[in-house]
Amino acid sequence: MSILESTPTSATPVVEHPKMTVIGTGYLGATHAICMAILGFEVLGVDVDQKKIDQLSAGVVPFFEPGLPEKLAAALASGRLRFTTSFDEAAGFGDVHFICVGTPQSKGSDAADLTFVDSAFTALASRITRKALLVGKSTVPIGTAERLTALVAETSPLGAELELAWNPEFLREGFAVQDTLHPDRLVFGVASSWAERQLRAAFRPILNDETPLVVADLATAELVKVAANSFLATKISYINAMAEVCEATGADVNLLAIALGHDARIGSRFLKPGLGFGGGCLPKDIRAFKHRAEQLGVGQAVAFLGEVDAINLRRRSRTVDLIRELAGGDLTGVRVAALGAAFKPNSDDVRDAPALDVARMLYLEGASVVVYDPEANENAHRAYPDLDYADSLAEAVDGAQVVALLTEWDQFRVADPVVLGELVASKNIVDGRHALDADLYRAAGWEYRALGRPSKPVTVALIESTRDSVALPAS
Ligand code: UDX
Repeated sequence: MSILESTPTSATPVVEHPKMTVIGTGYLGATHAICMAILGFEVLGVDVDQKKIDQLSAGVVPFFEPGLPEKLAAALASGRLRFTTSFDEAAGFGDVHFICVGTPQSKGSDAADLTFVDSAFTALASRITRKALLVGKSTVPIGTAERLTALVAETSPLGAELELAWNPEFLREGFAVQDTLHPDRLVFGVASSWAERQLRAAFRPILNDETPLVVADLATAELVKVAANSFLATKISYINAMAEVCEATGADVNLLAIALGHDARIGSRFLKPGLGFGGGCLPKDIRAFKHRAEQLGVGQAVAFLGEVDAINLRRRSRTVDLIRELAGGDLTGVRVAALGAAFKPNSDDVRDAPALDVARMLYLEGASVVVYDPEANENAHRAYPDLDYADSLAEAVDGAQVVALLTEWDQFRVADPVVLGELVASKNIVDGRHALDADLYRAAGWEYRALGRPSKPVTVALIESTRDSVALPAS
């Protein structure tokens, strides 16, 4: 018998087809609420932002996420999904409450800001009057669930009867629907067997799909999320650190990444060199993790995350260096086309976006920057109103002295270098994402540069002679 099975709640029945609330209808919450309704549950989405609730109720997804608008339409049509701003309604409705509010980086510190998490838990706890499960999905510092357990017990009329669990979410922007309906794994952080059984009921359709499940304690569940994001960030920074070495040696980081990736123990995913990671998760999560580890007295164990962050940020200034180099050493008055603003393709998210950061640095050096992103122009304009924005790729590159590819949208990948070449003032391109065919660009007369790649193509003769020398006997 496990520790959990021996707890007093082991006999308490669970609701087999629980009604759910999802508190916080941002990226994570909206996707979770919509997908749970698609899976057949009755779901009430809750947010303090009336505008967001009105949009979602009207079938409008307030952010760009492929496939989600169609799922929202289907979920609303099924009658199983509704949205509200009322916590009273939520408290009365739900058997399982998912808390999906944001945990942004605090102003002036690396720590996560837990204001929204705390207020969501207490707002529910003070109103719920029947047995229910509160499930945190937000990314939080280790120890938060334990602290919230005490806070909920203090706040709730039910006391410790109102239980808490943690269920970290691993969805990627751009693949949110797929990642929610068919996750690589589910992780349940629970403090009782009742909570585990109630969560199993809430995820029955996904578990029936043979999705691996890890049942853990609360602290481990919290840690899984930050550990996973730290690992991914480290892998990206590792290959970008190798790019720095390549720059100093004339080696080619692209070939290096391909060769490393063939080793199944290493694998090629998240080994793509370039401008590095950004977005609403990886950067803030590694900083908050490092901060929390220092508080816990184990700062040394994750001190390397400081390096991971620094390598990542250096890629941005190094990209500016390359652009300046192509511009002849001075960016003042130089017309630069910045292709991409979102932190990655298939997203309109510009939070901590490397692309926009580069555009901003170019602007501060006096360049005349024109930004174009297929989906993120509006968000980018809100964040950086001083930059100029174009409505199309052609308009952005028109008259440019340097083109910088900063977010690897398909539209940019497949653009014809000959056609682009006719629009620009000078055929200079910096491929910040290693997304373009260097040979095609060079054949069309472009000066092509990418971080960690030689400025001139490696000639076939050189490759052949390398092969020969490798084939020579050791003597
Ligand atoms: C990430 C995690 O992948 C996800 O599991 C978690 O739930 C939330 O954080 P997301 O922020 O959507 O998801 O983006 P992701 O696809 O991980 O990319 C993060 C950043 O890394 C992007 O800026 C991307 O351009 C960059 N990246 C990714 C690289 O620079 N190289 C790579 O090889 C992979």
